[in-house]
Amino acid sequence: MAASNSTSCEHPLKRVAVTGATGFVGGHLIERLRELGAQVVCTCRPSSNRRFLEEQGYDCRVFDPTDADRWKSVLEGVDVVFHLAASTAAKRTREYYSANTALTRRIGRAAASLPNPPLVVYCSSVAAAGPVPPGQIRLPGTPVAPVSHYGRSKRGGELAVAELAGSVPATIVRPGIVFGPRNRELYPVFSSIARVRTHVVPGVRCPQLSFIHVADLVEILVRAAVRGARLPAGPAQENGDLDGGLANNEGVYFAGAPEALDYRDFGYAVARAVGWRKHLTLHVPHPVPWVIAAAVETWCRLNDRPAPFQIDKIREASAPCWVCHDPRVPEELQFEFPFPLQERIEQTVAWYRREGWL
Ligand SMILES: NC(=O)c1ccc[n+]([C@@H]2O[C@H](COP(=O)([O-])OP(=O)(O)OC[C@H]3O[C@@H](n4cnc5c(N)ncnc54)[C@H](OP(=O)(O)O)[C@@H]3O)[C@@H](O)[C@H]2O)c1
Repeated sequence: MAASNSTSCEHPLKRVAVTGATGFVGGHLIERLRELGAQVVCTCRPSSNRRFLEEQGYDCRVFDPTDADRWKSVLEGVDVVFHLAASTAAKRTREYYSANTALTRRIGRAAASLPNPPLVVYCSSVAAAGPVPPGQIRLPGTPVAPVSHYGRSKRGGELAVAELAGSVPATIVRPGIVFGPRNRELYPVFSSIARVRTHVVPGVRCPQLSFIHVADLVEILVRAAVRGARLPAGPAQENGDLDGGLANNEGVYFAGAPEALDYRDFGYAVARAVGWRKHLTLHVPHPVPWVIAAAVETWCRLNDRPAPFQIDKIREASAPCWVCHDPRVPEELQFEFPFPLQERIEQTVAWYRREGWL
């Protein structure tokens, strides 16, 4: 079937709830959902910075995310809940599990307790599946083996959703590394290359990676809701060979651009986008990144701040290959990537420049 990039008007997105709307991906998702005519409810923590959402007139429900009853009342009458809230740089290891596993289970159970449960679209991560050996590509159905606390906690979220698949329709999307306008995580890479023509690369061998522009991920999330397969009902067990209850990966989609790059090549792509013909790639050999990450993490812990550079992330960066590919994205979701990755990186540079970030 030919892939078309327009989302059908006859979609089940009349009233939707979005968790993590104050975050990078969630902010883009709610804009797209509004464009599609959906009534969007954003769930926020009391501590969330809601200024942007309130200025734009979004319906924000502010409550303690550990309150199961509030989830139940917020999800009542909702067609789809896009669950994006997650801890991506936790201050303490246990926060990964409370934010990514326990919160997902709570939301799933709240949905399951309703007479008309909403569809749950869970934004997981390729980190939940784990890396693959060098030169290989993670395809649907390959056994999972997360290597970081972040990955294991997102995997825990997937299993929590899978356990409820008999009573709640659910689809999981596992993105690679997301970049694009307003992204702060990869901004230092753009900034260091643009300003000082230097790309700092941890280690000598860099892993192959799958990247995705935020607009493409948002479109895949929307399509996963509109026409994605749902997780099969059945017991979910933590079994590496069978990928838990997600045995044949029905209802689980990887989201990554078709072109895989290693971290060094990503630097070349950014340099081209900012207009440099030459730049310096500075390889920092192991164990230096581990030592720096340990120091940054300790300092941040003492100052009660999330660490931007963590041992957990170095664990992921030390894996050989994170490339994923999912042929069902064009086949089932009818989505083709509309721009080559290089052009998406150029669009991101243009946005950073327009907004005065570069
Ligand atoms: N960015 C990537 O490269 C990437 C790659 C793969 C998968 N993902 C997944 O994509 C989703 C969105 O990521 P993102 O980059 O947009 O993350 P982000 O910018 O860090 O935003 C995280 C969001 O989650 C909320 N949140 C954090 N901890 C929470 C908790 N304990 N309880 C309730 N809400 C909490 C935050 O709310 P506050 O405003 O209150 O802090 C914020 O809205 C996540 O599920 C992430 O795992 C991201």
